[in-house]
Amino acid sequence: MSDSPFIYGNTVSSEAFTNRKAEIKKLYNNLIQGINTMIISPRRWGKTSLVEKVVNNIKRKNKDHKTVIIDLFSVSSEKEFLETFAGEVIKVSSNKWEEWIDNSKNFFRQLIPKISFGIDPYSDFSLSFEWEELQKHSNEILNLPEVIAKKKNIRFIICLDEFQNTASYPGFLDFEKKMRAVWQRQKLVTYCLYGSKRHMMADIFNNPSKPFYRFGDIILLEKINTKDWISFIINSFAKTGKMIEKTDAAIIPKLMKNHPWYVQQLAHYTWNLTDQKATVEEIKKALEEVIYANTPFYQKEIETMSPTQINLLKAVASGKVQLTSTEVMQKYKLGTPRNVLKNKKILIKNDVIENTGNTINFLDPAFEIWFKKQFFNQSFEEQIWKKES
Ligand SMILES: Nc1ncnc2c1ncn2[C@@H]1O[C@H](COP(=O)(O)OP(=O)(O)OP(=O)(O)O)[C@@H](O)[C@H]1O
Ligand SMILES: [Mg+2]
Repeated sequence: MSDSPFIYGNTVSSEAFTNRKAEIKKLYNNLIQGINTMIISPRRWGKTSLVEKVVNNIKRKNKDHKTVIIDLFSVSSEKEFLETFAGEVIKVSSNKWEEWIDNSKNFFRQLIPKISFGIDPYSDFSLSFEWEELQKHSNEILNLPEVIAKKKNIRFIICLDEFQNTASYPGFLDFEKKMRAVWQRQKLVTYCLYGSKRHMMADIFNNPSKPFYRFGDIILLEKINTKDWISFIINSFAKTGKMIEKTDAAIIPKLMKNHPWYVQQLAHYTWNLTDQKATVEEIKKALEEVIYANTPFYQKEIETMSPTQINLLKAVASGKVQLTSTEVMQKYKLGTPRNVLKNKKILIKNDVIENTGNTINFLDPAFEIWFKKQFFNQSFEEQIWKKES
């Protein structure tokens, strides 16, 4: 049996990647032309995959551009940030590890790095510094790519994933100002900053009183459209010797509201259950499996919510929009109007719901299906399939 053509655990940047043509072009041109770019979207819509894809294209086509991707997910302090940043910049500046050592010595004026290597010099190279020195001269590190670029006649593109994590470093307010002040003067270095906490990212980049306001272009990444999903699903089935009709393939993005991670997941389970030709029956079973597989996460999510927040979600799940109307507040036991507004704000901030125009929606399509089953005892049959037919 061949491997599933659908991927949802890791990022996708080659095989299972679909569409995003306009976004690829825009991000590619921005980064090549020196325009700093921020990417903001809810969780698992494809930010990391998009950046990987574009960086791969740049590596292929522009040899004088050196690219760095750093995932800040587990980088938890300013010191660690600066050491990682310096180490990665040095690493991509040359193919030879002997040169890394020279560069580590030559490109600093005040700072004296401690260099360490593992058994394989290429994989375990890292730099560390005395924290006191580092604090005084952090500019040297923040400006390192510019200095190296000038010397070696190259350019740097530096992509920082989960950038909002920096906001939890002690002393972030000063550090934020420093980063911005140094980076905005650089002519040979371009930054791509993105992350999965949408509201924190927006606060860093969209707030006129913050240093990173207008640091560059902001891309608000959208979901992938239905047409592209349908052809992607049909082709992926065909590629692996299976089949799915267009009308059936269309059900998958429809159920998952075009959410990239979930469309891949539902397509994967459907593919797995299919011998030769997928039908609605396989999709039905696959949906149950998707919900079942994710149930522990949904339970955990619910555990973090207060009773009035859950009640508010019930009102949203029932299609209510006027949440502070007396009738809705009483029926769903939402507390005072103040409670309602506070809870709504929290759920929006945590990307559980979204308020666009005059609708309020769940952001996670499968969580919504699970929620209705759990709290209203609505079977999948009545939630979805009855409505479909
Ligand atoms: N262009 C794409 N084509 C097909 N599938 C995609 C695409 N982009 C994302 N996906 C699907 O969505 C999943 C999540 O993508 P990715 O990790 O890039 O999102 P993210 O926005 O960085 O998520 P997070 O907010 O959790 O960091 C991928 O594993 C894949 O299943
Ligand atoms: Mg990501």
